[in-house]
Formats: sequence, structure tokens, C-alpha cells
Amino acid sequence: MTQVVHEIKEVREVLGQWRKEGLSVGLVPTMGYLHAGHKSLIDRAVKENDRVVVSLFVNPMQFGPTEDLNTYPRDLEADTKLCAASGAHVIFNPEPKEMYADGFCSFVDMTGPTAELCGKSRPIHFRGVCTVVNKLFNIVMPDKAYFGQKDAQQLAVIRRMVKDLNIPVEIVACPIVREADGLAKSSRNTYLNAEERQAALVLSRAVRLGQGLVEKGERDTHKVMEAMKACINAEPMAKIDYVEAVDFQSIQKVDAVENEVLFAMAVYIGKTRLIDNFIINIS
Ligand code: PAJ
Repeated sequence: MTQVVHEIKEVREVLGQWRKEGLSVGLVPTMGYLHAGHKSLIDRAVKENDRVVVSLFVNPMQFGPTEDLNTYPRDLEADTKLCAASGAHVIFNPEPKEMYADGFCSFVDMTGPTAELCGKSRPIHFRGVCTVVNKLFNIVMPDKAYFGQKDAQQLAVIRRMVKDLNIPVEIVACPIVREADGLAKSSRNTYLNAEERQAALVLSRAVRLGQGLVEKGERDTHKVMEAMKACINAEPMAKIDYVEAVDFQSIQKVDAVENEVLFAMAVYIGKTRLIDNFIINIS
């Protein structure tokens, strides 16, 4: 049985009991409307911990004023079923006022890895992500927390925050889960109509193209990016927000493929902004 709790004090009560029993705890932070990508994180957390908490919270602080906070899809009933099927123990589903009490004014702000990629087009996004994830870490105090490589910059940012602020949690990175035709699973895919859904395949096509070029020996990131951009621009419904190559730790632009390089993109398909990426590790 998965228990759904809405208040921080309820989480603390359950956690206190688990700690007394000496049980290890895994946390999977999400914004809900769960799909197979989220499920892969939850399944892994269930395997690696005695108890698992899944947080479902559409965090207002990480959405810009013109973004999709109000239309972001929600379905607590379906999410509860998915969590129960995976064997998660607790769902933490707070109201915004539970997380951000009147007068809230403390933030986790990061420079460096938040400056490029999504940080450029979504200037307040990572401040909201870091603040809420830091709060979730303080509320649940997990041994391990699970994040998807689908949001690769977010993963790098959270790792940096944990290191910089000495947060005693192990960050576990999980691979991207895709639809059978290649589209990376995302709660935002529900915004796409049939025609856009087809056009959205251009993202995973560009990923495969870029990956193939590097595997064949191309070491100039600009050549790889040019080919990826040409591939995306060939799709009339697609509009590039960015295609970039960055060092996966620092999230700073790189010219050559060496060490761990993240090739990341954000592309508008109609009004929907989708992201995808691949990571190359050359050591
Ligand atoms: P959300 O978009 O719901 O994603 C929750 C977690 O699921 C993230 O770590 C994300 O990378 C992972 N995920 C999403 N789609 C995936 C896929 N196709 N394959 C593998 N993992 C996938 O990311 C957030 O929520 C929020 O920013 C959050 C961290 C919860 C803070 O509010």
C-alpha cells in the first residue's frame, strides 16, 4: 500500500519511525503525471532502499511567468496507482502553501552550471529547482535521491548543489526512457497533437545523428552541432531554442569532444518546448 501524505509533519512522523527501525530511504522528486521515465527511477529506488518516498509537486517557483504552470497536467489517482505498482511506500503531495508559507524569502541560487542551456531561456528556473529540491532533501533526509538524465543540466546542477552545500545524500543518475519510436518520455508530450507528435521525432533523430558522428570519430563539437541543427531545421514544425555542447560537470561550452560532453537541445514543436540530449564519455 502506498500512503499519500500532504503535510510536512506527516512525512517527518513516518520518516522518524523508519529511522528508528534503521531503514534506508530513497527519494524520487517529481512533478507528477508519472510515466515510464519516472517509473524507472521509482523501480530503481525500490530496489536499492528499504523505503521509498515519491514527491509529487508542481513547483510554482521553477516556472516563468509565461510558462505552463496552470496547464501542467495532473492526475493524483493514476500517479498513486503507478507508485503502488512499483512498491513505493509514501507519496508526498503538498499544496504550494505547505511548501511556501507566507513570507517565504530564502532561496538556493547557483551561478556557473545554471548559466547556459535551459538557464538562458528559463532564467529563474534553476533557482526554483534548487530551492525545492533542497527543501525536499531537508524534509525527507534521504540516503539516496534519483534523477533522470533526461534533464541532464538539472542533474549536473543538483550534483553541484549537493557538493557545494555538503548535503548528505547520494545522487543516483538514471538513463533516458524513450517511446518505441525514440521520443523521450515527458509529461509535456501530452500537449502535442498528432501532427506535432510526429514532428517531435526530430529531436531523437538529431540525438542519434550526433551520437553516430561522435562514434565515427568526429571530435569537433561545432561540426556535430551543425549536423544536428540542419536535421532539426529540416522539420518545418520545429524551432530551435538551443543546441549546445558543454562539459557535463561545469555545463560550460566546449569546442572539442573530450572527457564527459553533454550535447543538449531544446526545441519548440508548435507551442511545446521539448528537450533531449546525449552524453559522450571519452576517458
Ligand atoms: P519531472 O519533470 O516530473 O521529472 C522528475 C524526474 O524524472 C527528473 O529527475 C527527470 O529527469 C526524470 N525523468 C523525466 N522524464 C524522464 C525520462 N524520459 N527518462 C528518465 N527520467 C526521466 O524534473 C522535475 O520533475 C522537477 O524539476 C523536480 C526535480 C521534481 C523539481 O521540481
